[in-house]
Amino acid sequence: MKNALYKNIDICADYTSIPTKMANTNKTLGEFIIENQEEFRYSSGELSRLINSIRLAAKVVNHEVNKAGLVDILGAAGETNIQGEDQQKLDVYANEAFIKTLTNREIVCGIASEEEDDFITIKGRNEKNDNKYIVLIDPLDGSSNIDVNVSVGTIFSIYRRVTPSGTPVTIDDFLQQGNRQVAAGYIVYGTSTMIVYTTGHGVNGFTLNPAIGTYYLSHPNMKFPEDGRIYSVNEGNYVHFPQGIKDYIKYCQKEEGDRPYTSRYIGSLVSDFHRNMIKGGIYIYPNTAKDPNGKLRLLYECNPMAFLAEQAGGKASNGFERILDIQPTELHQRIPFICGSKNMVLKAEEFMQNA
Ligand code: AHG
Ligand code: MN
Ligand code: MN
Repeated sequence: MKNALYKNIDICADYTSIPTKMANTNKTLGEFIIENQEEFRYSSGELSRLINSIRLAAKVVNHEVNKAGLVDILGAAGETNIQGEDQQKLDVYANEAFIKTLTNREIVCGIASEEEDDFITIKGRNEKNDNKYIVLIDPLDGSSNIDVNVSVGTIFSIYRRVTPSGTPVTIDDFLQQGNRQVAAGYIVYGTSTMIVYTTGHGVNGFTLNPAIGTYYLSHPNMKFPEDGRIYSVNEGNYVHFPQGIKDYIKYCQKEEGDRPYTSRYIGSLVSDFHRNMIKGGIYIYPNTAKDPNGKLRLLYECNPMAFLAEQAGGKASNGFERILDIQPTELHQRIPFICGSKNMVLKAEEFMQNA
């Protein structure tokens, strides 16, 4: 069935599987970035170029993720990251692809990655240390899902540096509260590849047309439904959960009103979040007896997802306080994470606070 987009693009005349939703628009991500440049708090074109370079790296990683089943790229790379987890080969590949792409532009002065022990300093043009932006990244999220052909993602978070231009970046540039993010987003390598991001003016989603390598605005102004019926949590850890989360899960399962809710858990934060934002739901990774601070990382995972959630009308909390107001104390800090449809998160907080 031909659609508007299909008719406009000769080069993909034989490409028929463009999602119907994309038929409503043929605006590309590149066009969208240019049109919305003035929305950036510090409009100089640099942040636009930065988003552009993330778009480019995402294409490179997407290509590699898609052929993962075909080439000998699966399995642990034999290295362990700073958090003691096995690294998969694609983690290493994605990490390098993003760092390389971001370094080769005169925009970013520092990068911190879940896969790197320490932050990376980028000196910029003539070694002047005058680039403005800090990027924090989870290059491949849900990496345990790679070798079973299940969706994975990339998460990014962008700040302005706080130390003076012309000096090397310091840890203070990275340990900023999430409410200071100037942009954040994720790429989901799913049944189709999407970039979803915010610059503090709502959330927009772009779907990659693989036939021509272009992202199209497919999900403008994304919003979490205020209420949802999906809860996403690794219930295998139930006995180790705090009492408030146990009580909330029992509430989700209770036969009453629109409950019981549906349980859906992919094990890739990006994918679970993406589904919940579209359908309405809550994602929970609490602290457990084994992991007293939970598993997810504040800087690479929780802050960017919390920024997106709030920009989409949702909510993100550790059970007691807003994620975006937490002052980070270390680069690889972990934090309990409850995120999703506003009323569901409020309810979970109520159980946490009354337990
Ligand atoms: P990563 O692959 O970047 O280490 O992140 C995995 C995270 C998150 O994406 C996911 O929701 C969670 O870990 C799954 O953890 P469990 O397997 O403990 O449920
Ligand atoms: Mn992750
Ligand atoms: Mn990761």
